[in-house]
Amino acid sequence: MFDIQEIRSQFSILDQQVNSKQLVYLDNAATSQKPNSVLEVCHKYYTELNANVHRGIHTLSQLATEEMEISRRKIQQFINAKYDFEVIFTKGTTEGLNLIAYILTQKLKKDDEIIISYLEHHSNIVPWQLLCERTGAKLRVIPIDENGVLQLDYLDSFLNEKTKIVSVNQVSNALGIINPIEEIIAKTRKNTNAYIVIDGAQSAPHFTIDVQKLDCDFFVFSGHKMYAPMGTGILYGKQEILEDLPPFHGGGEMISTCSFDGTTYAGLPFKYEAGTPNVGGNIALGAAVDFICKVGQENIQIHENNLLEYAQKELLEIENIKIYGKKTKRTGVVSFNLEGVGISSDVGMILDKLGIAVRTGHHCTQPIMDYFNIAGTVRASFAVYNTLGEIDLLVEGVKKAQRMLS
Ligand code: ALA
Repeated sequence: MFDIQEIRSQFSILDQQVNSKQLVYLDNAATSQKPNSVLEVCHKYYTELNANVHRGIHTLSQLATEEMEISRRKIQQFINAKYDFEVIFTKGTTEGLNLIAYILTQKLKKDDEIIISYLEHHSNIVPWQLLCERTGAKLRVIPIDENGVLQLDYLDSFLNEKTKIVSVNQVSNALGIINPIEEIIAKTRKNTNAYIVIDGAQSAPHFTIDVQKLDCDFFVFSGHKMYAPMGTGILYGKQEILEDLPPFHGGGEMISTCSFDGTTYAGLPFKYEAGTPNVGGNIALGAAVDFICKVGQENIQIHENNLLEYAQKELLEIENIKIYGKKTKRTGVVSFNLEGVGISSDVGMILDKLGIAVRTGHHCTQPIMDYFNIAGTVRASFAVYNTLGEIDLLVEGVKKAQRMLS
């Protein structure tokens, strides 16, 4: 049974006042809060288990290694990867995308093409621009319409023998729009041999992910947006592809042999895990997966959809509010502006005084803001612990901001 009060009781941080008001945390697309079970795992790791992994003969090292590998297998199941060694620990989505862009360098040449979309976060734009600079490849961008919907006719016209990479997000961080990645993947597979990269930073906290069913080559996401500590994340890559590609960082752990005559590399996943990993964080990511599975992904989705629908309905009652992508299928996010009054940060500051945390500005998606000819939006983003009562407070707060700024 889905018991919202029981869920909230697992997040001690929510039970506090900010600016003398009960905290209403609606900035979950930036980072989610962490349940006590995840915090306890972090505490237990540093009080009972702290040791480096895959290196020590001693007991603590072996226990820490075992816990981290158990966590890897939980994540394998969470995304339905075929093998646990296809699950690489990273420090987040940004690192995952940069890693992929780096290791694909030798696969691209001048005038090859990389396809992304207008809805991408800067972390799914800039690494590809850097790759273009290194190789002479060109970036092609699937446009959107006024509802934020990707114009897939353009994808059809872009796909050709020069297409080497297609990288899109499953859910837009700025607008919450759910993109038709199944269709994008099918079209790309049918027409090209391109590598397919999915940015799942904003989908992994909300949906069931099945990388085998999706048939993507890479899938990346962050731990901190799905109830795990900051500095954790996952890069999934298909075995044959990761085995074919060169390493990213060089260092300890990623070698098989190392001498001044040359180095041979470790097998997966260690080839891509140079240096000491975030062991405690990686174990806690497994605990976050346990939390999500215990609540139930379907329950989370139903609850968050209710929040989104209610928020949109109530906010639309406000005069001169503009919600971006309001007609489009979304998850977890309502992104809006009050037309004719102030800028998004003015609204955000007033909401903050009322204890309501939202993000304002361009959300690291300046091309989307340019498309709508705005500097930014107010973005409220939801997680499993948010309530309809909190949406009421948001709506009241926005009305108050409108009165104050008019
Ligand atoms: N990418 C995060 C966001 O959308 C930080 O807020």
